[in-house]
Amino acid sequence: MAFKNLGNAGELFPQSVFIVSSYAEDGTPNAMNVAWGGECERHSVCINIGDHKTTENIVAKGAFTVAPADAAHVAEADYFGIATGNKVNKAEASGMTFVPSEFVDAPVIEEFPLTMECKVTDIQGDAHGARIVGEIVNTRVSESILDEEGRVDFAKMRPIVYDSTRRIYRVVGEEVGGAWEAGKAFM
Ligand SMILES: Cc1cc2nc3c(=O)[nH]c(=O)nc-3n(C[C@H](O)[C@H](O)[C@H](O)COP(=O)(O)O)c2cc1C
Repeated sequence: MAFKNLGNAGELFPQSVFIVSSYAEDGTPNAMNVAWGGECERHSVCINIGDHKTTENIVAKGAFTVAPADAAHVAEADYFGIATGNKVNKAEASGMTFVPSEFVDAPVIEEFPLTMECKVTDIQGDAHGARIVGEIVNTRVSESILDEEGRVDFAKMRPIVYDSTRRIYRVVGEEVGGAWEAGKAFM
């Protein structure tokens, strides 16, 4: 097999399409698209965000919500990543329904079937760019994506991921093996 060295390209895949929602100090809801984020431990989310309206909001409010985008809302998810709340009201322009979280001072977008509601526990940086950790205080899920045992069923939800090599979104696909199970073939 032949290989090429791509230097520091960093093609770690998949990258998330997390829609991070927050309130401005005047109460205006906002949302942005975050690919550089993930669960950094079992009940915490880490997001790496630059100098954005969202960053200012989260630093001021100490809270945010994270909804993994689904295939049904690709256009809205992308819009949240190319328009800024510094210039437009993305909640109004997107037509999505922003409602207050019951648990933290941040909005939840009704159309997304899964949302983690987070309280900020650590900020490395400031309102102009930061690595922010949030403790998940509630996970809100639509019954439409639950299986018969009450578990989130990602096959029903069809989450999307960001493919940075082509700057496209891909839908998460089929099951190919059991975790903590497939490897037993070598034991
Ligand atoms: C696919 C995609 C992924 C993105 N990931 C990030 C990210 O991880 N961190 C970041 O700072 N900006 C990221 N952005 C850019 C922000 O979403 C964008 O600058 C947005 O306009 C910020 O919104 P705001 O100013 O309303 O907060 C991404 C954009 C796209 C389209």
